[in-house]
Amino acid sequence: MIDWLKKAVFYEIYPQSFYDSNGDGIGDFGGIMKKLDYIKGLGANALWINPCFDSPFKDAGYDVRDYKMVAARYGTNEDLYELFAKAHEKGIHVLLDLVPGHTSEEHPWFIQSGKAKPNEYSGRFIWTDGWIVGVKGHPYIGGECERDGTYMLNFFKCQPALNYGFFKPQEPWQKPMNDPDCLATREAVKDVIRFWLSKGCDGFRVDMADSLVKDDDENKTGTCAVWRDIFASVRKDFPEAAFVAEWNNTGQAIISAGFDMDFFLNWGGNGYNTLLRDYETPGGDHSYFKADGDGDITRFLREYLPRYEMAKDRGYISLLSCNHDTPRPRRTLSPEELKLAYAVLFTLPGVPFLYYGDEIGMRYLDIPTKEGGYTRTGTRTPMQWKMGKNLGFSTGDEKDLYLPVDSAADAPTVEASEADPDALLHVVRRVFTLRQESTNFDADSPFSVLVQAKDKPFVYTRGNAVCAVNPSQKEMTLTIPEISGKAILYVIGKAECIEESLTIGGGSFVILE
Ligand code: NOJ
Repeated sequence: MIDWLKKAVFYEIYPQSFYDSNGDGIGDFGGIMKKLDYIKGLGANALWINPCFDSPFKDAGYDVRDYKMVAARYGTNEDLYELFAKAHEKGIHVLLDLVPGHTSEEHPWFIQSGKAKPNEYSGRFIWTDGWIVGVKGHPYIGGECERDGTYMLNFFKCQPALNYGFFKPQEPWQKPMNDPDCLATREAVKDVIRFWLSKGCDGFRVDMADSLVKDDDENKTGTCAVWRDIFASVRKDFPEAAFVAEWNNTGQAIISAGFDMDFFLNWGGNGYNTLLRDYETPGGDHSYFKADGDGDITRFLREYLPRYEMAKDRGYISLLSCNHDTPRPRRTLSPEELKLAYAVLFTLPGVPFLYYGDEIGMRYLDIPTKEGGYTRTGTRTPMQWKMGKNLGFSTGDEKDLYLPVDSAADAPTVEASEADPDALLHVVRRVFTLRQESTNFDADSPFSVLVQAKDKPFVYTRGNAVCAVNPSQKEMTLTIPEISGKAILYVIGKAECIEESLTIGGGSFVILE
């Protein structure tokens, strides 16, 4: 396992919205460089930057037109290389976002691929063999190119699927995974990975990592084999490069495909959702961290523990506060509830990810869509640095801002949070700093559950530390032999421990060491 990940704490930056250094209303690399000390001061030591490559931005940059050139709105390639260097000087690693499943419909590979005359790129995408022949079971488009065929999509209409082949081809136009055209796609992706790693990037978050081989079996055997091949090649030269999958299947991503980390995402009713986003089922918000939630951590642990046990010697589960696709947790959790949620998310095993602005409790805004964001747009608004013009995000005109800033009179800002000793920001900083100070909270430090039951605090060990959380409104007392001889290291709310007895207030979290 990659050594630097043990202590890694990631901060996700949506580059459009982090900090605008040139007053044009959109965030840029210069802005990220100016805020590296802030990120470091938070106790984070690694970045994931969403796609920052040349793009028509029909899906906020997940529609890549040139994998090797950054989008002019963020700066130049040289600026990004400088960002890598400046981040490294401060001990910060930088992951870029790799989109291997599809390109933009404006990518030169795709334009070539759509030509009637066969050429080097004819097999780079998935085409049927007739203009009226569709792709069974998948979205596809016809009538757009001179080529006599329709092509498969991977996500939006603007994102044609790159061709890694079919697991078991059924039609004459479906190529097997080892077809030279499919192998050429792999080589092209390896080339992109090598390009950025050789410029100083430290790895990638991989978009839709499970989507490569089409009509794969239920274990994603084909897609996993592609990743093993890519990693075997790239890791020979870049053994320290880290890869985190957008896969949400620990066994497949970490064990079979060989990723270092896999996100535990908010997809359809899974265990992670029960912690902080369980508001889609009828009867109110059942999220564990709500003061009036259902108080049942076992719903999360039922899914988390087997995944943790499976992956713990091979890689890490990444728990996250949010990402650019997910409603901000502040949408339903109060800052007090968020303190407990973050304290737990960031003291559990694995490599945590904090989404920019979640540290100050930025709100989810109900605003019109931008660049294919739809309901995700409200999570992507500009970072709120301080009161005053554009909340300190940009010196530009309000009308030119990429997205509007939160107009609420009490919009949280970094400046106000710094001045308020009780602010959420300080909890994030304290917990992140603890991860740097003590090996107990290393990504791979041992973890065990001491208490898990409905309407009881959740109590767990990390190394020789014991953590307990009580999101309910009632004070509770427990007897826990493992805390004997330990003292309180950090507390949110109220806790008292006398020998083996722990009393923990409602809405409280404690670490004993
Ligand atoms: C997942 C990304 O996180 C999302 O933002 C994007 O729209 C899709 N993949 C398509 O690339």
